[in-house]
Amino acid sequence: MKVLVTGGAGFIGSNFIFYMLDKHPDYDVVCLDCLTYCGNMKTLDPAMANDHFKFVKGDVTDRELVFKLFEEEKFDVVVNFAAESHVDRSIEDPGVFLRTNILGTQVLMDASREYGVGRFHQVGTDEVYGDLPLDRPDLFFTEDMPLTASSPYSASKASADLLVMAYHRTYGLPVTISRCSNNYGPYQFPEKLIPLMIKNALADEPLPVYGTGENVRDWLYVEDHCKAIDMIIHDGKVGEVYNIGGHNEKSNLDVVKTILRQVGKPESLITFVGDRKGHDLRYAIDPAKIHAELGWLPDTKFDDGIRQTIQWYLDNRSWWEEIISGEYQEYYEKMYSNR
Ligand code: NAD
Ligand code: DAU
Repeated sequence: MKVLVTGGAGFIGSNFIFYMLDKHPDYDVVCLDCLTYCGNMKTLDPAMANDHFKFVKGDVTDRELVFKLFEEEKFDVVVNFAAESHVDRSIEDPGVFLRTNILGTQVLMDASREYGVGRFHQVGTDEVYGDLPLDRPDLFFTEDMPLTASSPYSASKASADLLVMAYHRTYGLPVTISRCSNNYGPYQFPEKLIPLMIKNALADEPLPVYGTGENVRDWLYVEDHCKAIDMIIHDGKVGEVYNIGGHNEKSNLDVVKTILRQVGKPESLITFVGDRKGHDLRYAIDPAKIHAELGWLPDTKFDDGIRQTIQWYLDNRSWWEEIISGEYQEYYEKMYSNR
């Protein structure tokens, strides 16, 4: 089996590559990634020596490059992680989100049709369901909910999902979609909540919590997401959407306090800053379908996952210290000064 993983130099894609090479040592895995600010060749170091792994630098919107790659490699399965993925950046500059997340998906599906790919899997997000109220803990996102969007990022991901379903219905492309809640774990770029707060806490710098910190996210350890996608590409039903989440809702303030406790730093580092525009209140996944149909359940509890994650950032300082020099400093200045 030959699998194309797009966006595999990023957070979840790289973890998925490691998961697949370990779980299916006879599969060939090709990573296509254009290495944006959050794609990192260092992340893929553990895979580079594996004969079953190959890295190709390229943009998913580059039709000529993508078609040539598909012609040469004859992929059985495509798993599309490649995306602009940070909500705050999408609020600043939506254009590149529409290009990569929508048009990139179209190019990959056109190539999948042309070269007879057996399964096109779209890695989607729970943000396409909008948000839930804080005072209705009985409500959860289910696969049959209508799509809506709060940010240019979620709008681009919802558009891509619609396009994927349209390619299935119109052209019979064998697709599946997964929609996962917030991931955490090794190799996450330190612009997202958990690694950003770990990094700032370790440096005794302020921890910038948006608004009141009451917003709720449903956290899942990244390896559990990878396991779910592996199950879907093997046993998931073509044309179906699967929600992925482990019933692990936490307010942002709770997450930040947990991190501070574990690294032994005071809560006085917490600094409330201006809220995100259009900030979604609560995400909460109902994972009943993937559990019932594929037997998926998460393995890692939050207490263990967050401890392992913090330890990973302590053990791999060089990985993130390199990232937070240069362009990252400019980004941080722009987003957080005068907020
Ligand atoms: P990430 O930002 O860490 O990585 C994205 C990767 O895509 C990077 O390696 C980047 O270089 C690559 N990329 C970007 N534009 C590209 C292009 N035009 N061509 C080729 N490669 C390109 O993102 P992530 O957090 O790993 O998310 C991966 C996928 O999972 C995204 O589709 C995202 O929407 C989805 N998702 C993320 C989460 C989460 O909590 N992080 C949850 C649910 C779904
Ligand atoms: O739900 C899945 C989504 O989760 C994915 O589709 C996205 O790709 C991924 O980035 C993530 O989106 P969020 O916006 O939920 O993640 P982020 O880490 O940016 O923020 C998590 C929460 O923390 C959110 O309520 C905003 C808040 N926050 C974030 C940052 C970066 C802060 O309070 N302070 C911060 O500095």
